[in-house]
Amino acid sequence: MIICKGRAELNTMREANLIVARVLNELGSLVRPEITTGELDRRAEEMISKAGARSGFKGYHGYPANICTSVNDQIVHGIPNGRRLREGDIISIDVGVLYHGYYGDAAWTFPVGEVSAEAQKLLQATREALYKGIEKAVVGCRVSDISAAVQQHVESHGFSVVRDFVGHGVGTALHEEPQVPNYGKPGRGPKLQAGMVLAIEPMVNSRGPGVRVLEDRWTAVTADGGLSAHFEHSVAVTETGPWILSALD
Ligand code: MF3
Ligand code: CO
Repeated sequence: MIICKGRAELNTMREANLIVARVLNELGSLVRPEITTGELDRRAEEMISKAGARSGFKGYHGYPANICTSVNDQIVHGIPNGRRLREGDIISIDVGVLYHGYYGDAAWTFPVGEVSAEAQKLLQATREALYKGIEKAVVGCRVSDISAAVQQHVESHGFSVVRDFVGHGVGTALHEEPQVPNYGKPGRGPKLQAGMVLAIEPMVNSRGPGVRVLEDRWTAVTADGGLSAHFEHSVAVTETGPWILSALD
C-alpha cells in the first residue's frame, strides 16, 4: 500500500527535507582535499541536532553513523571514518533526518578539487538523470515512467544504472512503498497520485552495473573498480507537478 500524504504532512516533510538540504549544502562547502569523512559526519550530526532533528540513518538496521560517505568506486552506504579526501576524488554524501515524525532523504555527489573529465561527465549525467526522473513524478504517470527516464538518460551517455539498490517511498518510515528502480520499461507499476512522496535516487557506474559489498557489510562498491555517482531528492507528487522537498530553495 502506498501512503498518500495530506497538505500538513507534506509541509512537515518539506521542513525535514530542508534540514537535509542545508546539511548537504554545508557538507558540500567543506569537501576539499585533506578533510576526513568522519569530520563531515560530525558536522552533520551537529547541524541535525541543532535543527531539532535526528539522523534518519543512525541505528537503521544497525547502521553506525549519521550520514553515508561513498568515495570513488564506492556506490552507497560508505561509513564515515578517518579517510582523508584527496584531490581528484569524488564523494557521494547521503543525508537522512527524522523530524516531527517524518523522514527527509537526499544525496549529492561532489568533486574534490579538480577531477577527471570522465568523473565530471559521470556527475553531470547522473544529476541530469535525477531531474529527468523527477519530471515524470506527476499525477497520471506510473512509477516505471520515472525508472525508464532515468535509465534512458544514463545509458545515452554510456554509463550503467545500478540494479541492486532502488529509490523508494518515504514518509513516517525511511523506506515505504513503492520501490522506485532506476531501470525498466515505461508504463508499469502503480499510477502516481497527489500526496505520494518518492525518494528518487539514481546510482550510476562509469563502467558496468555490478556491485560488491565490502567486509563491513555496508559499503557497496563497483564490481569492476569503476567510479560511481549518486544523486537523490525526496519529491512529492502534487496536482500542480513535482515538488522537490529536498531542494535548497
Ligand atoms: N538514501 C539511502 C536509502 O534511502 C540511505 C540509507 S542508508 C542507511 O536507502 F544507513 F540508512 F541504510
Ligand atoms: Co533514499
